[in-house]
Amino acid sequence: MNVASMTINPSLDTARADFPILNQEVAGKPLVYLDNAATTQKPKAVLEAMQHYYLWDNANVHRGVHTLSQRATMAFDEARLKVQRFINAKLPEEIIFVRGTTEAINLVAQTMGKRLVPGDEVVISALEHHANIVPWQMLREERGIVLRVLPIDDTGQVCLDQLPALLGQRTRLVAVGHVSNALGTVVPVKTIIEMAHSQGIPVLVDGAQAIPHLPVDVQGLDCDFYAFSGHKAYGPTGIGALYGKKTWLESLPPWQGGGDMIRSVSFEKTTYSEPPAKFEAGTPHIAGAIGMGVALDYLETMGMAAIAAHDEMLCRYAADRLAEVPGLRLIGTAADKSAVVSFVMEGVHSHDIGTILNSEGVAVRAGHHCAMPVMERFCVAATTRASFGLYNTMADVDALVVALGKVRHLFR
Ligand code: ALA
Repeated sequence: MNVASMTINPSLDTARADFPILNQEVAGKPLVYLDNAATTQKPKAVLEAMQHYYLWDNANVHRGVHTLSQRATMAFDEARLKVQRFINAKLPEEIIFVRGTTEAINLVAQTMGKRLVPGDEVVISALEHHANIVPWQMLREERGIVLRVLPIDDTGQVCLDQLPALLGQRTRLVAVGHVSNALGTVVPVKTIIEMAHSQGIPVLVDGAQAIPHLPVDVQGLDCDFYAFSGHKAYGPTGIGALYGKKTWLESLPPWQGGGDMIRSVSFEKTTYSEPPAKFEAGTPHIAGAIGMGVALDYLETMGMAAIAAHDEMLCRYAADRLAEVPGLRLIGTAADKSAVVSFVMEGVHSHDIGTILNSEGVAVRAGHHCAMPVMERFCVAATTRASFGLYNTMADVDALVVALGKVRHLFR
């Protein structure tokens, strides 16, 4: 199925029509969906492509000689090419399909980790999501590695000037998020990569929150690994991608064992496939990969530059409007931000804010956002977070501000 034949309104102004889910009421009010950093809604084109696959092409990939299997394989391989093109990877075999960003980071931690010895170091930042903290802590327990943390300043930006002191002879990897899920900070990953590479240190970028908002060019960045999830980029859940430079994917040991990742198996000796199959044991999420490919096509059709400008505009507008709400304090005020406003309100717990907003039809996330160290850095237990997608409008921000007025009123 060709994306051109699918239901798409090729403009941000009319994109909302591609997402029927948005056209409903919650608690008797029009839904205002502002929880896009948790997961985005799916355009009809993605749902149609997945349904088409299950209705007409469903079969296992890389296994059958029959027509359905050939069609499924073609669609699956095409999805890989779409991911390759979207992030400008040099080769399709540099794209590994995984369940999502978390699995991608665990894949690198567990394969690279096999070669690490006590005293080897991994550098992360204080902005990371738990998915880019815990896998390295597990490695610390298993292999005795040392975890070093790049601090953040009061705006929620990483303290780049402190990075050189953290990079040394024993640094084996720098692993950083591209955009903070909790605060929306856009991290200068290109500079971090240049600094790390100048000492021969590879860099993994957690791109979960960047992929739906910013143009990403892995060759331009020159990162060694880039991880992201489909569902935060208008695709389905349960699918994501790990980009790895070919040399890295060739040199790392395989991860999970099973079908597809082998070249030959005997009880005496098993040999492994080349990447990407080497890292894709078992039947993959075929429909998911197809759906993710179409979601990336969708983003391309809208234009990433236009999306980035739209997100930035909404983010600034939201920051200005939230400043009008008495007792509200923004957490995360970095100069470079993308699509997230996180805040606390004097005297009101974030969960109460979230619940009252829901009763006004406004969906936000309240809590620590799987980034407890960020909360600790700002001395708060939790924040309320509104996060924007390509279908959000200034009117959605206005609805948030009106609903926050009700919160203020109730907690006077
Ligand atoms: N990581 C997702 C979020 O930030 C779940 O909400």
